[in-house]
Amino acid sequence: MAAPVQRDQELELTIDSLAYGGNGVARLDGFVVFVRRGLPGDTVRARVTKVQRRHAEALATEVLSSGQQRVEAPCAHYPACGGCRFQDLDYDVQVATKEQWVRDSLQRLAGLTDLPLEPILPAASQFGYRNKMEYSFAELEDGPTLGLHKAGRWDEVLEIQKCWLTTDLGNAIRNRMRDWAREEKLPAYDQETHEGYLRHLLIREGRNTGQALVQLVTNRGERFDRERLIEVLTEFPEVRSIHWSVNTGVSEVTNLPTELLWGEDAIEEEIGGLRYRVRPNAFIQTNTEMAEQLYAIAREFAGLSGGETVYDLYCGIGTIGLSMAADALTVWGIEISEESVACAIENQELNAIGNTAFFAGNVGEVLRELRERAGAPDVVVVDPPRAGLAGKALKRLGELEAPRIVYVSCNPTTLAGDLKRLGDDYGYRLVRAKPVDMFPHTPHVECVALLER
Ligand SMILES: C[S@@+](CC[C@H](N)C(=O)[O-])C[C@H]1O[C@@H](n2cnc3c(N)ncnc32)[C@H](O)[C@@H]1O
Repeated sequence: MAAPVQRDQELELTIDSLAYGGNGVARLDGFVVFVRRGLPGDTVRARVTKVQRRHAEALATEVLSSGQQRVEAPCAHYPACGGCRFQDLDYDVQVATKEQWVRDSLQRLAGLTDLPLEPILPAASQFGYRNKMEYSFAELEDGPTLGLHKAGRWDEVLEIQKCWLTTDLGNAIRNRMRDWAREEKLPAYDQETHEGYLRHLLIREGRNTGQALVQLVTNRGERFDRERLIEVLTEFPEVRSIHWSVNTGVSEVTNLPTELLWGEDAIEEEIGGLRYRVRPNAFIQTNTEMAEQLYAIAREFAGLSGGETVYDLYCGIGTIGLSMAADALTVWGIEISEESVACAIENQELNAIGNTAFFAGNVGEVLRELRERAGAPDVVVVDPPRAGLAGKALKRLGELEAPRIVYVSCNPTTLAGDLKRLGDDYGYRLVRAKPVDMFPHTPHVECVALLER
C-alpha cells in the first residue's frame, strides 16, 4: 500500500504521545506520522519532510490548539536552538515519558514481561544543571558570533545570550569571549569554504569547586594575542585553566590535543565527597548533581560488603569505581581514553585511595587479561557509550560469569538489546532497573540495571 501522504504536504494532526527520541506520534487513518515539535494533546499544522513505506516524518509549523501539558518555555532562544527539545513540556510529563520509554524498550526489545522497573528519579535541578558546554563560532555580517547549533542544523549557529542549561558564570564567559572575538576582529571558521579562524569554545566547570576550564579551538596558526586572551579570561576569578587546540581538518571535532596557555592543566570537581581532576578531553558526567545520585544507585545495586573484587568497565576518570572503593576489596577500572585513565590514576591519589587500579584499553580486547591479573570479579559495573556493549565486549563480559552486573546505561534501546543477549546466552536475569533523568528538556534518559545469574 502506498503511503497516504507526500513530501511537503500540509497536514492537520493530533499528537497522541511522544516516541523515543522526542517526536510526537500522530496517526492518519492508522498511518503513523512522527511530528517534530508536536507535543501530546496538541493539534498542529505540520509539513511532511520525509515519507517512508510504513511511516512519515513531519515538522509542526503551527500549534492550532495546545495540549494541556504545554507550558511556557523560559528561554528566549527556544525552540530555534538545538540544545533543548522539551522546554515547553511540563516537567512531570517529561519524566513520566522517559520512564515509559525505558519500560517500552525493556518490554519490546528485551522481551521482558515481568519488569522490575522502579520509578524514575527526576532531576534535582530542571535548569542550570550542566557542567560542560560546547559552543561554535559563526560569521555574521558584522563580525563573529558564538552560540549553539540551530535545531536540526549542523551547519547553522544561533547566537546565544543566555542558555538556561548552564550557569551565570558559563553564560558570562561565553558572552565575554564573543566580545573578545569581535574586538580582535578574528573571523569565524566557515564550514562550507573551510576558511576563517575561530571554531569552538568549550567551557567546563567544577560545579562543587567553583573552578572553570576554557578551551579555544581554532583553525591553523596562532592568529590571536595570547596575553590579551589570558587577560580577558582571567577577568573571571573562577577560570583556573586556559587551553588552546588547533583543528585543521574539516570535521567539527573538539576532542583534540591541547596546549596549556595559562594556569593549571586541569580543574577539580567534587562528586559525593571525592575530588576529581578534569582535563579538557576527559569524560565526566555533565550533570554533577545527578551524577552523585546515579552513582549512589549504582552503589546500592552493587550491594558491596567489603570483600568484593569489582571491575569498573568504561570507567572514564574513575568516578564510579572510586566511589565504590571504600566498600570493596579491590576495584579494577578499564577505559579506552588514555587521558581519562591518567585522570583516574591521579584521582585515586588525590583521594588517597589504595585499593583501585586503572588501565587503558578496549573492554572487548583486554577483559581476559584483566581476569588473569585481578582474579574473577564478584561485581562488574559497565557504563558504556550510547552504542552499548558493542563488538566483543558483551561476549567477554558474559564469559566472566560474574554473579552480579550493574549496568549503567545512557540508551534504553541498546540496554534492552544487551540485557536480552546477556539473558539468552549467559543466563543473567534482570533484578532491578531504575531510570534517572540527568538531562531535563532533552530526550536523553539514563538507567541503572542490576543483573544476576
Ligand atoms: C558513558 S562514559 C562513562 C564514564 C564513567 N563511568 C563515568 O561515569 O563518568 C563511557 C566511557 O567509555 C569509554 N569507552 C568507549 N569505548 C570504550 C571501549 N571500547 N573500551 C573502553 N572504554 C571505552 C569512553 O571513553 C567513556 O569514557
